Amino acid sequence: GTAQIGVTGLAVMGRNLARNFARNGFTVAVHNRSFARTQSLVAEHGEEGTFVPSESVEDFVASLARPRKIVVMVKAGPATDAVIDELVPLLDEGDIVIDAGNAHFPDTRRREAALREKGLHFVGSGVSGGEEGALLGPSIMPGGTRESYEVLGPILEAISAKVDGVPCCTYVGPDGAGHFVKMVHNGIEYADMQLIAEAYDLLKQGLGASAAQIGEIFAQWNTGDLESFLIEITADVLAHVDAATGAAFVDIVLDQAEQKGTGRWTVQNGLDLGVPITGIAEATFARALSGSVPQREAARAALPAATLPWDVSDRDAFIEDVRQALYASKVVAYSQGFDQIAAASAEFGWDIDRGAMARIWRGGCIIRARFLNRITEAYERDPQLPLLLADEYFTAAVGDGLAAWRRIVAGAAQHGVPVPAFSSSLSYYDGVRAVTLPANLIQAQRDFFGAHTYRRTDRDGSFHTQWSTDRTEHDA
Ligand code: 6PG
Repeated sequence: GTAQIGVTGLAVMGRNLARNFARNGFTVAVHNRSFARTQSLVAEHGEEGTFVPSESVEDFVASLARPRKIVVMVKAGPATDAVIDELVPLLDEGDIVIDAGNAHFPDTRRREAALREKGLHFVGSGVSGGEEGALLGPSIMPGGTRESYEVLGPILEAISAKVDGVPCCTYVGPDGAGHFVKMVHNGIEYADMQLIAEAYDLLKQGLGASAAQIGEIFAQWNTGDLESFLIEITADVLAHVDAATGAAFVDIVLDQAEQKGTGRWTVQNGLDLGVPITGIAEATFARALSGSVPQREAARAALPAATLPWDVSDRDAFIEDVRQALYASKVVAYSQGFDQIAAASAEFGWDIDRGAMARIWRGGCIIRARFLNRITEAYERDPQLPLLLADEYFTAAVGDGLAAWRRIVAGAAQHGVPVPAFSSSLSYYDGVRAVTLPANLIQAQRDFFGAHTYRRTDRDGSFHTQWSTDRTEHDA
């Protein structure tokens, strides 16, 4: 065969990735379970490049030059395993199977190990940017062997988004590293979206502003430090008018958020690794709360508010406070996400370059933003940076907004506006910087009821106090 890359699974993401490869001059083998979809791709977009369509998996595999590079773009889970099982017997040593879906990284680890045993490469790759990104240039986060990246990297870099001429694609790390980083990307996406939603709610409730007015505020914010894809589309969405009713579009959208699971995986992993990703967790739980319909109905009728009306005297000052609180909370959420990447990298031996991850997120992906440059710079200053928040740039940026952040969180509490991500981020900030935390009491309680032992501030070792008898202390 002669095709340089193959794509199987031609739903919208697979289709657009295949077109992207073709538009960049690669000969693309294409295959889909139902051949009609393959035919329609070639009929509608055949002039964009060179497609080699196949009806059977055998012909598809045979149409590829070796080592074969096959992108699998099907639904995460059993469908992915089914396609891999069908492909594997047809492949030769050194061939590369790329899973570009949102797979859960433990599945990727399992699949990588299984294919490695057969002399094949399995590359679990995060791909972000939605439909448009897949076609015009996504952010790509490939894992697997370094050896596979030597062959595959140039092709993926060619179709990726570019920022200042730099591709938004780099080798992430072995086995599940690519899908792990994509998972955290999505967790951060949840946190970022929740923070933006809380800012919108604060402006709505604090100022009584209309969707269109709030849209203008977001458009203004998009010219500064907050400049990002998510802020930009928020301004766009808020300005949109519903054709059927003439109402602001957001005002006719039901307030129950859904999710497909990547945010939940991120939180579950945060718990497994013991990394406090509070922003992502609150964002995920906020979606769950919004969808808890019977609970919301029961609470709406029964729970008193005991709040005062929000009397904002200086509108501009309030808007600026919300902006600064949003930025500070956002820095915390990203700092936590990068901590999670560091923890997983250590746990699984991935050696992930966090600065490089921020670099490939500058374009193509959903969380693309000006501020990611600052993150890359921070890790360039100190590749082992233990806490992004403690980098000089972020310390200063958050410090400047600290008073505003406190005013907003306190005001929201007094006036009954739920701001789980804003407030948990501020609590995290105060917790992580605290000289002492009340964990001493937790340890004492644990020792009291379960003889779980404690350490002392004044000497090394573990100790237990005989609480139920004479309360003497013993080495544990
Ligand atoms: C991306 C997106 C993409 C998907 C979200 C939606 O990076 O292109 O993250 O993967 O649109 O995961 O996730 P939810 O349906 O869970 O909100």
